[in-house]
Amino acid sequence: MSYLASDKPITLHELGKKYAAGEKIATLTAYDASFAALLDRNGIDVMLVGDSLGNVLQGHSTTLPVTMEHMIYHTEAVVRGSQRAFVATDLPWGSYQESPQQALRNASRLMAAGAQMVKLVGGLVMAETVRYLTERGVPVWAHIGLTPQSVHALGGYRVQGKDEAAAQRMKDEALSLQQAGAAMLLIEMIPATLGAELTQMLQIPTIGIGAGPDCSGQVLVLHDMLGVYPGKTARFVRNFLQGAASIDEAVQAYVEAVKQGSFPAQEHTY
Ligand code: KIV
Repeated sequence: MSYLASDKPITLHELGKKYAAGEKIATLTAYDASFAALLDRNGIDVMLVGDSLGNVLQGHSTTLPVTMEHMIYHTEAVVRGSQRAFVATDLPWGSYQESPQQALRNASRLMAAGAQMVKLVGGLVMAETVRYLTERGVPVWAHIGLTPQSVHALGGYRVQGKDEAAAQRMKDEALSLQQAGAAMLLIEMIPATLGAELTQMLQIPTIGIGAGPDCSGQVLVLHDMLGVYPGKTARFVRNFLQGAASIDEAVQAYVEAVKQGSFPAQEHTY
């Protein structure tokens, strides 16, 4: 089955329709115009200009050195390369935590660069900022669970929400972000059972990465799913280029696997 039946640009409204219809949302990161065009023509619904560019493009060991200027540059490139997919961009470390006003100033710069939504990291403490942005017309994608921008506070890249108290905290965070107006929730590296519970509990799409098969959609870092990142890859990564004849085919296989629910499989979950 082709997921490219329509060339219609994917808006937030279209994403809402997919969610309501139970269609899984296939998301990948993108950082440049050529790959954006490739993902676009092969059925990706959402392209995330992720601050993971600090790792996969710049070679840093964390995302912390990434700046607003980097995010604007890569957002502009991705937007130039895409015609159909929805484009979201990460607010980088230090660009939104100070105050809702700082977040709005920087979110506005990303939207002027072409982003249709901004993603920010954080739970309860960010709810006020999420409300401030959404009430002023900025669609927000909130990110909880393992949040790479907090790698030092979390003590490394480890599975989150494992015990009952941590799982409950995450549910409270998710509800408060939804209430504040978040349009989507990214959940990273948590037990699959918690991913399923969060997805059931919320009325906004959950996009999982290492959060099990029951999320409303899935995301991977492009360089991970093509097997070109030289660093250590997490359990939740599958190399879709293995067995594919081209990068186009690998992306099509990813889209199919996400839409059909065959990715992530048991071996990719916690
Ligand atoms: O920056 C990024 O790539 C992310 C991932 C979790 C998809 O936020």
